[in-house]
Amino acid sequence: MAESKQNKVLVIVIAAIASTGGLLFGFDTGVISGAIPFLQLDFNLTDAQIEDVTAFGLIGAVIGALFGGRITDILGRKKVILVSAFIFATGAWWSGAAPDITQLLISRLYLGLAIGVSSFAVPLYIAEISPTKIRGTLVSLFQLLITVGILVSYLSDSALADNDVVSSWRPMFYMGIFPAIILFVGMFFLPETPRWLMSKGKEAEGRRVLAKIEDPEMIDTAIQLMKDELAKDADQAGWKELFKPWMRNALIIAIGIMFFQQFVGINTVIYYSPKIFLKAGFEGNEAAIWASVSVGVVNVLFTILSLYLIDRLGRRKLYFIGTTGIVISLIFMGLGFALQAQLGDMAKWFLVGSMLVYIAFFAISLGPLGWLIISEVFPLRVRGLGASIGSLSNWGFNTLVVWTFFKLMNILGDAEVFWFFGAIGVIGLIWGYKFIPETKGVTLEKIEEHWRQGKAPNEL
Ligand code: BGC
Repeated sequence: MAESKQNKVLVIVIAAIASTGGLLFGFDTGVISGAIPFLQLDFNLTDAQIEDVTAFGLIGAVIGALFGGRITDILGRKKVILVSAFIFATGAWWSGAAPDITQLLISRLYLGLAIGVSSFAVPLYIAEISPTKIRGTLVSLFQLLITVGILVSYLSDSALADNDVVSSWRPMFYMGIFPAIILFVGMFFLPETPRWLMSKGKEAEGRRVLAKIEDPEMIDTAIQLMKDELAKDADQAGWKELFKPWMRNALIIAIGIMFFQQFVGINTVIYYSPKIFLKAGFEGNEAAIWASVSVGVVNVLFTILSLYLIDRLGRRKLYFIGTTGIVISLIFMGLGFALQAQLGDMAKWFLVGSMLVYIAFFAISLGPLGWLIISEVFPLRVRGLGASIGSLSNWGFNTLVVWTFFKLMNILGDAEVFWFFGAIGVIGLIWGYKFIPETKGVTLEKIEEHWRQGKAPNEL
């Protein structure tokens, strides 16, 4: 009795820590959005410099994701998450206190490292330490909490935005210190994962941790599974294996879905929505930030809906429904700008409306599908490596889009940028017809078998 109670408490603590990890990831990418209009006034920044500030955080994330995997294997999951919590806290403080643009850029890059590392290490920690029965739920909780983190950053930005105080952006960045401290303190008391301990030959210690979290009758099975898996890992072929011809489809799918997830322009809305609203005719930074809070709320609500739909409708249906909706709403967003003169005051509401529809369609499709599919399409032996290529592509493409958005707006025009993203969405539909596999209800072994037989993704 007492044992199972302890088990439950620990699982709740783990879930809470998982939540702060996801929350920080979302918070620190989303916080830039409400800070930008103030930063721009305070430091007299051009749009190009705003792109730099945003992109530097993402470049940090690329670097963090690139090296995070190796370091996490060497030092252990717990130590790496503790270090990233430390970077989250000190980075939030440093970026809030930055006296000039140079320090702001460096501090965002530094903070980005923690975002990249945690985007990889926190889900890994959760997956390895959760009791088998609720692992799926806890891992998708992390995804959901990213969108909650984005919403929290919008709300806190709104609460702190004061049109009379240009330095309002500073407390916005400082807020990130609090969840980081919670993550650090919580993680400090949590154990290392049994799987990592086993991989370092510390079986006794691994068993002790398992005994605290796993159903007593499942412990031996769990240990055996880990041993089997570790034995398979021993003959991991690594990069070479990943580039063999039969793996080509899996690679194209992972990189491709992240390309389309980012190139329909999602983060121009997530990071820049207050600026877009200002351009659309809303007045005052506060009004613009509040308009974007609605983006955050819709994002969370429809991500919850997607958790329900993903195993019922299946991947392909969601992909086509979602991407079609994204393309149509992008066309309307463009129209909101193109018809500004004719629509008058209506234009901005037209824009808010189509932007919310756009977010809703993204949140039920490309958002969660990207992360899910990269975890499904690779064979076990290269799953970690494959998924990290997917996540690297995600941060890389994200950087590219965010760094060029305002430049593109100047070159193409306000409306045309959104139509450009829409056109990419159309290509995504054609690409997806050939490449999006229906993995609903298919075991991961069957997916591997399918590639080995040289069959096409849409035959699955
Ligand atoms: C994307 C992020 C995006 C978020 C929005 C994620 O799936 O990878 O780039 O900011 O969705 O909710």
